Order: sequence, then structure tokens, then C-alpha cells
Amino acid sequence: MAVLLALSTLALAGQAFASFPDCATGPLANNTVCDTSATPIERATALISLFTFEEKVNNTGNTSPGVPRLGLPAYQWWQEGLHGVAESPGVIFAESGEYSYATSFPQPILMGAAFDDPLINRVATIVSTEARAFSNANRSGLDFWTPNINPFKDPRWGRGQETPGEDPFHLQSYVYNLITGLQGGLDPEYKRIVATCKHFAGYDLENWEGNVRYGFDALISIQDLSEFYTRSFQTCARDANVGAFMCSYNAVNGVPSCANSYLLQDILRDHWGWTNEDQWVTSDCDAIQNIYEPHYYAPTRELTVADAINAGTDLDCGTYYPAHLSAAYDEGLYNISTLDRALIRQYASLVKLGYFDPAENQPYRYIGWENVSTPEAQELAYTAAVEGITLLKNDGTLPLSPEIKTLALIGPWANATTQMQGNYYGQPPYLISPLMAAEALGYTVYYSPGPGVDDPTTSSFPAAFAAAEAADAIIYAGGIDTTVEAEGMDRYTLDWPGVQPDFIDQLSQFGKPLIVLQMGGGQIDDSCLTPNPGVNALIWGGYPGQSGGTALLDIIVGKAAPAGRLPITQYPIDYVYQIPMTDMALRPSATSPGRTYMWYTGTPVFPFGYGLHYTNFTSTLAQPSAATYDIATLVGGCAGVAHPDLCAFESFAVNVTNTGSTTTSDYVALLFLAGEHGPAPYPNKVLVAYDRLHAIAPGSSQTATLNLTLGSLARVDDYGNTVLYPGEYELQLDYDAQATASFTLTGEQAVLDYWPQP
Ligand SMILES: *[C@@H]1O[C@H](CO)[C@@H](O)[C@H](O)[C@H]1NC(C)=O
Ligand SMILES: *[C@@H]1O[C@H](CO)[C@@H](O)[C@H](O)[C@H]1NC(C)=O
Ligand SMILES: *[C@@H]1O[C@H](CO)[C@@H](O)[C@H](O)[C@H]1NC(C)=O
Ligand SMILES: *[C@@H]1O[C@H](CO)[C@@H](O)[C@H](O)[C@H]1NC(C)=O
Ligand SMILES: *[C@@H]1O[C@H](CO)[C@@H](O)[C@H](O)[C@H]1NC(C)=O
Ligand SMILES: *[C@@H]1O[C@H](CO)[C@@H](O)[C@H](O)[C@H]1NC(C)=O
Ligand SMILES: *[C@@H]1O[C@H](CO)[C@@H](O)[C@H](O)[C@H]1NC(C)=O
Ligand SMILES: *[C@@H]1O[C@H](CO)[C@@H](O)[C@H](O)[C@H]1NC(C)=O
Ligand SMILES: *[C@@H]1O[C@H](CO)[C@@H](O)[C@H](O)[C@H]1NC(C)=O
Repeated sequence: MAVLLALSTLALAGQAFASFPDCATGPLANNTVCDTSATPIERATALISLFTFEEKVNNTGNTSPGVPRLGLPAYQWWQEGLHGVAESPGVIFAESGEYSYATSFPQPILMGAAFDDPLINRVATIVSTEARAFSNANRSGLDFWTPNINPFKDPRWGRGQETPGEDPFHLQSYVYNLITGLQGGLDPEYKRIVATCKHFAGYDLENWEGNVRYGFDALISIQDLSEFYTRSFQTCARDANVGAFMCSYNAVNGVPSCANSYLLQDILRDHWGWTNEDQWVTSDCDAIQNIYEPHYYAPTRELTVADAINAGTDLDCGTYYPAHLSAAYDEGLYNISTLDRALIRQYASLVKLGYFDPAENQPYRYIGWENVSTPEAQELAYTAAVEGITLLKNDGTLPLSPEIKTLALIGPWANATTQMQGNYYGQPPYLISPLMAAEALGYTVYYSPGPGVDDPTTSSFPAAFAAAEAADAIIYAGGIDTTVEAEGMDRYTLDWPGVQPDFIDQLSQFGKPLIVLQMGGGQIDDSCLTPNPGVNALIWGGYPGQSGGTALLDIIVGKAAPAGRLPITQYPIDYVYQIPMTDMALRPSATSPGRTYMWYTGTPVFPFGYGLHYTNFTSTLAQPSAATYDIATLVGGCAGVAHPDLCAFESFAVNVTNTGSTTTSDYVALLFLAGEHGPAPYPNKVLVAYDRLHAIAPGSSQTATLNLTLGSLARVDDYGNTVLYPGEYELQLDYDAQATASFTLTGEQAVLDYWPQP
């Protein structure tokens, strides 16, 4: 009682509340939708049964008008929150003061480099807390169209920056921790917010040589679809209980994703058991219209909307459903039960968000402005940047000697502010550039922007050289940014753009310590810099968010130690001439060098998982408890387990010792599995487990416990089935296999998961 009283007082203090339906005195008050003892499906069904046909059709787009005569408010289903509450149709930032900002974390590609899933869970919890605060202030809806969890397969992809990287296991582990943070657990009484896994499926091309995402037909083998393109989505649906999915612009094997019942029904709902009728699918924005044009999949607009709703696309981000579902119904192209199903799914999900419940029952309706951009959130935005930043070269220049008092900060990222957020961002409380951070540390700073990212001219060189001349050491911050990698735009080369390589080469001739910050989400080929002894250190900084400059400078001066790892392969520039972006196959062939660290047959500039430290570590890997395992015994031990691929195999202790004498540092333990088993060609290796150990002091050790499942050992056959194969297995610790362990599986192969056939 005392608690309730305190909450009510807070509620009053919180003032402005969202347009939640009035279940106390409004027209819906005595309807089942307001009855908290009924199930979400019963409640949503009762609500929808009050709608006229026209009201149903009118509420099938992302901007729902609601039903005024029932007191059902208008609702915007489209909010974004990729790395913080973001600008989007449903989010309204204030001009100033309260609700004029929210915490801006690094882009997912940099948070992926942290390989720290508990960190991701904390970030997601803060994003959903701040989202609730905005909702309570009537400044946001409760459905967020995040995360982008397509694997970053091709280095040219303009939206790869929005993902945690190229490895499916990494994405699965990351997204599980993200979704449970955003939604508030696996099956909470009230969801914090509803997250949306996108873009299902096979979406990783924007616009490349005339192939545009809206009409691209991705030809994907069933093996690759199961093993690579949909694994993160399986985790979203089957394991993390995500509330929503988004179907993608592209077609898969001839069928646009939003009209694709093989994807949306057979795989998503039937195979993965995503069967709660409070879980719904939205189209990507205008993707339903794109079924008509430029996919030219359906000959009329009516058939287009019928194909989509019958396949299981419940909501149209766009206007095709509201505009054409009436005529399609008149033509008998879909049943009313299908339209009802779509609406029930959506409104049942609002029931799970507490939309129709009295505020005093709920934990999240009392979150307010005092919960936004808290000191804890600000600290976490900084920590997430520090943890992801990755050291690629260091000849001992870093951390910078205290003798150095003056710095030249040069380059198109030297005073980066908005740039540090990449895309899908909101209003941050502040943006601390590298220049501001250097000044805050007390350095005398000579700043010169030098040439822009893509600038072909040299007119900016003299001013920059004057700055370099004046300082004890030079920090060059450049690389790429959203002027060359962006939504709607893929890259054509992996070169450092513009005149940057020549400019850096000239900076390297000043005979002063030169630290290069390679910024941006996708990788560019650093082999124009790494052999140059005048480039003393190289750091990849991604899009580091609101405290990005502080994180970078703290690492440079040694206030923080780098321990990030590349979540993507850095390919040499010739890679883009060896395989078209449109080629979806992963395995190497006569026409492909293979894709990702798993299949690439060439030599990467920096491999997946690469990253240096300010200290040395030695690691040992525990040996397996047996040299040989019988497959039938392993599988038999999992009888009754719902998903045998998740059934435990063994845990491997990794003992990590910091053998340096000065620097306390984090260390990411990465465990790969290699070996000739399953269908050839075999992958080089696959990531099967990882953990980030924190603050290992010089001379001390910590142990990571890496837990393998039967799924860790499995490979996928031509039919997409997940199979345990007899053969030789080798565990490799870290990207360079600094410790290994071997074992053998014997007996008959066993299927852990039968993939639905098209
Ligand atoms: C919430 O905001 C909308 C506009 O976004 C407005 O129409 C509505 O009246 C507001 N509701 C309340 C309760 O302030
Ligand atoms: C709901 O039912 C109560 C009790 O029967 C009644 O007093 C109230 O007027 C009803 N409200 C509405 C909106 O019909
Ligand atoms: C449905 O939407 C159309 C177009 O906006 C509008 O003219 C019509 O009045 C709406 N119908 C209802 C019942 O709200
Ligand atoms: C509508 O439902 C009936 C009865 O279940 C079914 O036979 C028919 O195929 C459905 N029509 C469409 C267009 O889905
Ligand atoms: C919101 O802030 C209040 C006051 O600091 C605090 O008591 C409460 O726990 C916070 N709620 C959340 C969900 O962080
Ligand atoms: C750095 O950027 C900030 C924010 O855009 C700007 O106010 C400031 O003037 C810039 N500093 C210099 C030295 O250009
Ligand atoms: C790491 O070990 C190498 C080789 O023993 C040594 O040269 C280097 O100084 C060590 N680095 C640190 C930071 O301890
Ligand atoms: C880890 O390795 C260190 C150094 O070899 C050793 O002293 C320590 O006992 C080991 N710890 C464990 C848990 O095996
Ligand atoms: C492995 O499992 C153990 C025991 O459940 C747990 O303590 C540990 O955190 C797990 N390791 C990882 C990396 O999740």
C-alpha cells in the first residue's frame, strides 16, 4: 500500500501522460479489452469485434487513426531505437529542456566489437527505460523497429554499420541479450517495449550497379538460408520471444519477403514456434507497394495487398493496405479472419505493453524524465565505446608518453560530433569530439580538418601541415563516414577514400608520433598504412556515440586500455573485384573467393577477431573430458530437450593471465571450432563461444567458462538440416589459435533440427 501511494504521487508529479485509452470511464470501459483478467488474445479479439470493416482497414498502416467513437486513440507503430531513442515518426523530441535528448550509444558495429553481451543487455535496458519515459510524456509509442540483425556479409554494404558484425553465432548471442533488455525479459507480465527483428530475410544490399534493394531478388541456397542468413532471426523468434518482425524489401528466390509465406509462415511461425498471437510482422516501409513495383510480383494492387496479408505481413509501413484492402476484399482475395488476425496480433501486443491497463498496476508507467540520460546511462555510453574501440597496430607509441604536451588533431573526424552517431540516432545530451576530449585532458591542441573524407583536392594540406609542425605528436582521424556508407548506398571500393592515403603518408614524414584513427562502420583496406613505420599506431573507432571523443582519447593516453576485436573481416581492396555484391553464396567457388572469415580463401588484411592490447596475455584452454564422443550417446542425453541444438555439450575453461607489468586490461576470449566434418567444402573455422573478462591486473589471472552446445558442433546440410557429423574437431582459442584442443565424434550422423523445405 505504501509503495502504491508513493507511485501515485510520482505519477502526479510526472504530469503529461500519453494518449492511452481510457479504460476507466471511456466507451471501452466495460469491454473485455479493459478486463485485466482476460488473456491478451481475448482482449484484443473483443476490441477488434467492435470495429467496422472500414475501421479495420483504416488501422492497417503504421499511422493508425484509432477508432475515435470507441475512445481508441490514434497510434504510431513506427519508432526507431538502434542505439538510443531515435528520430522517427513516433518519437517527438522537445525543442529544449525535458525530453530534448536521450542517451546516444555507439553504433551496433562498435558495440559488437566489445564482445560483451551483459553490456549489450544493460544498454538495451537503458534504451527501453528512456523509451518508456518518452512514451509516458506522450512523446513516443511503445513499438521500436530495432534491431537490424542481418549478418554484415559484404564489406560494401551501406547499412552494415547497424549490425553487430558478420558472424551468425555472435549475432545470435548479441541479439538475445539485446531483445531481453529491450523487452524486459523472456515473458514479462508487462513488456518494457516491443522490439522488431529486421530485415527478414537475406537483406544486405542497398544499391549496387543498378541492383536496388526494393526490387532485388536474392538467390539463396537453402543451406545458406538456414546456416547463415536466418540464424539471428531464429534466436529472435524461438529463443528471445521478440514481439515483432519486419519483412525486407528484397525477394528471396523469386518471392518478395513480405509476400513470402515460406519465410513468414513455414519458417518463422511453424518451424520456430513464433505462435503467440500477440506477435506480428510489419513490412519495411513501402515494401508492400514494392511487391507490385519494382518486383512486379503481383499484377494488380489488390493482389499485392492480398499476397502480403495472406502470407502473414500484419502491418503495412506505408499506405497500400489502407488504400487497397477494401477493393481486394470485394474481389474475394482474402478472408476477413485474415484481416482480423493481423489486427488482433497488433492490439494483443499493445495489451502486453499495458496499453489498456490502469497505470497503477504497472512498473513502467512511472518512468519519467529523471530516468533519462542518468549518470549511469552516460557512463555506460562511454564504457560501450571504450570496450568496442579496437587497436590494430602499435609500435609502442601508445599509450602516449606523458612527455607529450601538445597535439595536432587533424582530419575529417578530428572534431567529429554528429558523425559519431552514424545513422538512426536521436538528440544526444552532448557530443564530445576527439578535439574536445583532448582539450579536456589539458593538451594544447592544434586543430586542422585537412581534406574531407572523399575530398580529391590537396588545398587543405598546408594548414594541416602547419598544425603538425607545431605539435609534439599527431592524431589523424579519418577513414569513412555516412557520406560514403549509408542507407540506400553501397560502396564500390575498399580504398581509403579521397586523398587521405597520400595525406597520411605526408604526415608520417614529420618524424613525430603519428596515431591514425580509422573511423566508420565498414572496413577499408589499411595496408596502405600498416607497413609504414611512420604510422606508429592504428585504431579502429567505428561510430562511437556521444562520448566517442573521450573514449578514443582516454585509450590514446592510457586512461583506458583497448580490448575490442574486429567483428568483421578487413578484406584487401581486390576483394570487391572478385565477387559481385549480388552473389549471395558463402562458400568459395570458381567464381568466388568465399565470404566472411568462415569461407574466405584469401588473406585478410586483418582477420575477424583481431585486436591488440597494451599488455601481453597468455591463455590456456582446458582439454575436453574425453578424446572421443559417441554421437548417439550425446544426442540421447538430450532426449526431452525442446531444442537439441541448445543442449549442453561441454564447458571449456580458458585461463587468461596478464603477463605484463603495468597495464590492467580487459581480454576477449574467442573460441573457434575447425575440422573436416560435414559437407565439403569445410569452413576455415566457426566461432562457437566467447566471453569478455574485465580488468585483469598485471600478473593476475581470470578464467572464462565457455559453454558449448550440441549446436556448436553441428554443421548444416544441403537441405538446411542441422546435423552432428562424425569426424575430427579442433577447438582454437583466439583468432591466431594460440591454444587448441581436439576430439573426435564417432558413430552415425544425427539430425538436431529438420529445416522446412520450400
Ligand atoms: C499526445 O500527443 C498527441 C500529438 O502527438 C496529441 O494529439 C494528444 O492530445 C496528446 N495527448 C495528451 C494526453 O496530451
Ligand atoms: C460500465 O458499467 C458500469 C456498471 O454497470 C456503469 O456504471 C458504467 O456507466 C458503464 N460504463 C460505460 C462506459 O458503459
Ligand atoms: C477511413 O479512412 C478514410 C481515408 O482517410 C476516411 O475518409 C474515412 O472516413 C475513414 N473511415 C472511418 C470509419 O474512420
Ligand atoms: C477463405 O476461407 C475459406 C474457408 O476456410 C477457404 O477455403 C478459402 O481458401 C479462403 N480464401 C482465401 C482467399 O484465403
Ligand atoms: C526512475 O527514477 C526514480 C528516481 O530516481 C527511481 O526511483 C526509479 O527506480 C527509476 N526507474 C527506473 C526504471 O530506472
Ligand atoms: C568543433 O565542433 C563544434 C561543434 O560542431 C564547434 O562548435 C566548434 O567550433 C568546433 N571547433 C573548432 C575548433 O572548429
Ligand atoms: C609483450 O611481449 C613482447 C615479447 O615478449 C615484449 O617485447 C613486449 O614488450 C611485451 N609488451 C608489453 C606491453 O608488456
Ligand atoms: C591460470 O594460470 C596461472 C598462470 O599459469 C596459474 O598460476 C593459475 O593457477 C591458473 N588458474 C587456474 C584457475 O587454472
Ligand atoms: C557458462 O555457464 C556458466 C554456468 O552456468 C556461467 O557461469 C558462465 O557465465 C557461462 N559462460 C558464458 C560465457 O556465458
